[in-house]
Amino acid sequence: MSNERSSFTGKIGFVLAAAGSAVGLGNIWRFPYLAARYGGGMFLLVYVILSVTFGFSLMVAEIALGRKTQQSPIGAFRSLDKRFSFVGLLASLVPVIILPYYSVIGGWVLKYFVGFMTGEAGSMAESTYFNDYIAGAGQPLLWFAVFIGITALIVLFGVQKGIEKVSKVMMPALVVLMLFIVIYTIATMDGAWDGVLYYITPDFSHFSIMTVVAAMGQLFYSMSLAMGIMITFGSYMKKDISIEKSTHQIEIFDTGIAFLAGLMIVPAVYAFSGGDASALKQGPGLMFVTLPKIFETIPGGTVLGAVFFFMVLLAALTSGISLMETIVSTVMDKVKIGRKTCCLIVLGFSFLLGLPSSLGFSQAWSWVRPLGMNMLDFFDFVSNNLIMPVVAFFTCLFIGYFLKPKTLIEELEVSGPFRAKGLFSVMIRYVAPLCVLLILVSSVLNAFGVIVI
Ligand code: TRP
Repeated sequence: MSNERSSFTGKIGFVLAAAGSAVGLGNIWRFPYLAARYGGGMFLLVYVILSVTFGFSLMVAEIALGRKTQQSPIGAFRSLDKRFSFVGLLASLVPVIILPYYSVIGGWVLKYFVGFMTGEAGSMAESTYFNDYIAGAGQPLLWFAVFIGITALIVLFGVQKGIEKVSKVMMPALVVLMLFIVIYTIATMDGAWDGVLYYITPDFSHFSIMTVVAAMGQLFYSMSLAMGIMITFGSYMKKDISIEKSTHQIEIFDTGIAFLAGLMIVPAVYAFSGGDASALKQGPGLMFVTLPKIFETIPGGTVLGAVFFFMVLLAALTSGISLMETIVSTVMDKVKIGRKTCCLIVLGFSFLLGLPSSLGFSQAWSWVRPLGMNMLDFFDFVSNNLIMPVVAFFTCLFIGYFLKPKTLIEELEVSGPFRAKGLFSVMIRYVAPLCVLLILVSSVLNAFGVIVI
């Protein structure tokens, strides 16, 4: 990257750009299925508590780190302390793991959009459709290839700005559409209100350490933390903009959309299944199984469904673009190759890495289950529950005990008072590293079947 860094214009520019990267499939696809799986209200409560304490502190830290050093993640750590360069490196690995399987899901969304456009909405509403679809190897692979191909084309030709403009108009529209679906299901579906209660009332019997593990993984994923993204954003941020306020805004925006997506999906699943636990726990397919059923009950639902999946597709595309862009610029920082060549290499590599996630659901390959998970869940687990906590742990350790929180607090105070600096220091030095360590250990032990929680 050149020494001249461009910056975001205006106060809202930074928040919008960061929120645009944060909002994606994580909010609309991942959050609802985790909330349904891990006890509804209990998950929500744990998530919100983590988000305003731990998530807040980590996001502030990353943005401040980027703005202070004016560098990309690897450079940021290296310039402050050589011994911690590996943290930047590890962080840069995360998008490499996420992009391929993210594109597999992007492919599912694309397929559903096209399906709604071509009169398949009826069959998509059948309960077995989704599982049959992902079990057939060829089609999902094709749509995955198309999705990642479009992403690469956009990055290759540098037309991200245009897509981002469209998506900025579409995001508010998506919120309105989700609100409509929420109101419609609650008003018309028997049992939906019980589902709402399941979603918002914490039931302590649903609490387990896995709730915390899942909520924290989701927090990293959804807010694009512990992967260097926010460091990069921070490096482009102007000195007179408040990091604290911006972080609050991004957080509220990101969590708000996730909450709404959950409210759209979880009560409906509850109503359709009569609160059956196996329906609630089905995992990654939840949105794809539930939404077509809802659209089937709405008059004009096919059109609404097409519009909905188009908007989700845009949100997925902007995140996919941003993931690929991050990988391309990291690689280009390291090796001297042209941008086009680099894009093509990243595309080829991501496609190969995505193959197992896409084919893992097919009959021929479904026996491959590392740690008892399907391949997509496995990659998801490795990035969100292993690498990201390690990155977060060392980031906290570095800031808390080597760089010292004071250095970053000073960076924040350049643009005005930092109100939560007490919380920030305590979090970064004591609470966050301990929690992350605990969570890392329990998620590993759980995955290897040493303890069952
Ligand atoms: N946060 C994004 C979402 O919620 C996913 C994501 C993870 C992402 N890492 C990213 C997006 C890096 C852009 C860049 O879907």
